[in-house]
Amino acid sequence: MKEIEVSSKLQVFESFDELSEEVKSLLEEAISVRKQAYAPYSNFLVGTALLLDNGEVITGSNQENASYPSGLCAERTAIYYAGSKFPEAQIVRMAISAGSKHSITSKPIPPCGACRQAIAEYEVKQSKPIEIYFMGETGTIARSHSLSNLLPFGFDKSVL
Ligand code: THU
Repeated sequence: MKEIEVSSKLQVFESFDELSEEVKSLLEEAISVRKQAYAPYSNFLVGTALLLDNGEVITGSNQENASYPSGLCAERTAIYYAGSKFPEAQIVRMAISAGSKHSITSKPIPPCGACRQAIAEYEVKQSKPIEIYFMGETGTIARSHSLSNLLPFGFDKSVL
């Protein structure tokens, strides 16, 4: 028997003042699109902004449905749109902001497991890390250098 250990690292920033102008502006886009989320059932609003290597910024918010499983998270709304509109572009960076209508969310909210799997597909496809910044509505901002850092032991096309 051997044991395999994988470690993950996050950088945590205390405020926007510690971020570059480019990252700040992508997070601001995520915050702004979060406010347009359609989330009448959970009242949990999520916004995502993606920066592509062609300079385009693609945004998305969560879209819920009376048939709950038919809804879609913000991250997948954005990444599938990016993949369909700019199939040749690479994703440089992703910014996420999430918060409840019932209380102030002041800790970083990472993408859910299903979204991590979806983002992983594009990271593998482009063979280049996708940098991910995530936050609540306020408070600290977390950064992951790549998606694979958030999804160790991931499943991808190499096993098919
Ligand atoms: N949600 C996202 O948009 N992204 C995530 O990574 C986690 C959850 C949405 C789905 C649903 O509309 C609401 O947040 C509550 O789960």
